[in-house]
Amino acid sequence: MITWGISANSHDAALAVFHDEHIVFASHSERFSGKKNDGNLCNDLVNYAKTKFGGMPDQVIWYENPYLKTLRQLRAGQGWMWPKNNIKQYLRGYGIIAPIKYTQHHHSHAAAGYYTSGFDHACVVVIDAIGEFTTYSIWRGQGDKLKCIYTIGYPHSLGLFYSAMTQRCYLKPNEEEYILMGMAAYGDANKFTGVMLDELLELPNDDLQQPFRLRRDLHRGCMDWRPDLNLKDVFDLAAATQEVYEMAFDRILRQAAKLCPSKNLVLMGGCALNCSANYLTGRYFDQTWIMPNPGDAGSAIGAVLAHNPQWRMYPKDFTPFLGYDMGMAHSNDQIVDYLVSDQICGLARGPAEFGPRALGNRSLLADPRGLDIKDRVNKIKQRQEFRPFAPVILEELVNDYFAMPHGWTTSRYMQVTARCLKPTEFSAIIHTDGTSRVQTVPKDGSAFRLLLEAWYARTGCPMLLNTSLNIKGRPMVNNHSDSRNFERQYNIRVFN
Ligand SMILES: [Fe+2]
Repeated sequence: MITWGISANSHDAALAVFHDEHIVFASHSERFSGKKNDGNLCNDLVNYAKTKFGGMPDQVIWYENPYLKTLRQLRAGQGWMWPKNNIKQYLRGYGIIAPIKYTQHHHSHAAAGYYTSGFDHACVVVIDAIGEFTTYSIWRGQGDKLKCIYTIGYPHSLGLFYSAMTQRCYLKPNEEEYILMGMAAYGDANKFTGVMLDELLELPNDDLQQPFRLRRDLHRGCMDWRPDLNLKDVFDLAAATQEVYEMAFDRILRQAAKLCPSKNLVLMGGCALNCSANYLTGRYFDQTWIMPNPGDAGSAIGAVLAHNPQWRMYPKDFTPFLGYDMGMAHSNDQIVDYLVSDQICGLARGPAEFGPRALGNRSLLADPRGLDIKDRVNKIKQRQEFRPFAPVILEELVNDYFAMPHGWTTSRYMQVTARCLKPTEFSAIIHTDGTSRVQTVPKDGSAFRLLLEAWYARTGCPMLLNTSLNIKGRPMVNNHSDSRNFERQYNIRVFN
């Protein structure tokens, strides 16, 4: 039985393929189309899935309910969107003809998280911009069962608040929220936090009843809010946005812990990508699991698991390396030789990561020591000076170099920030507030782990700088042709 899970027709489309209960492939559409955050499927992705993984699916499971979504869009003043939301017709456009089942948007998020967590029981929290109507939900996971116990709906949405402020800071909403998060460390939150709470997002007194509420509908942004803002204010605005987000997030976690007591938390939805705020989970839970692709793209997997909870996976069996497979051509010794002499190289091998982070299979790697490294990598990445780069470190040594927050003994998918204990030695991977978005690599025998071990044996340094391998404005490298294009464009050696 071949089952396809699909999340598309919105933003950041993705497709997952299951053979019976086994996941065999998952990829963002953008990696095949070359269009960053491509919201639609593309023929190259569909053909790759068909050709490599057994042909046309026996069934498709779609990540949300298009009928309810159409109703919400009508209520939100977006008009009658039915022709666009007709999924059967949409899939036919890509030659996909199979019976279709639908899942509700937050159920797909919750299932993607809980059924890959390995927990036998957990409190599951989903926070995003909007699905059909729901914007925030709490679920109780027990064995194979997942039950929704609390929801907040449109227009009250923490994700919409963050995206609206992203746009207000002259960035691209639904795409550049992570840039706003990076800017926050440079601003003074005090300047706008009060006014934001007075005019945009309310924190009601009874936070167990409703932890936050929007004072106005931010679905279409708030570019008219505070028209006297100037460009110099945006860092302060970013800082206040992050501050207000964390205040609401803390109340959400407190509410969730009360309504669904458990030592285990599963956090999902696009807001789970806010790695600066995620340390807060440790205040209420002993362990946190965030599936490596917690946004809508990950719901391509979640939709399938929501319909088939008996297919749940355990973290030891679950891997984010599910995409296009480039194979391997070079040895780790060759790569370490090159890194020791040249300090920077690309690495594109094996299956691509399914998720927004490069975790070692489509990465630009650099020696994190030395004052000029950040400038050299920035020259290649051509991104804003204020944005930090992330370290990847041997997991057993993480506590020697970083103060991991409570509840986060590991961070295998770059989901939390931690204060660096040796900032002067590793300036290239430290943000202005002294933190780093850490990736820890366990002793799993993977090629990337062995590369990091070889680098440590040669240099005594247990970490590398790790950032995504992509040409500016384009998605991460997917295949050999992309890899060669990257080499040509930046004159940087890419090892396969
Ligand atoms: Fe979502």
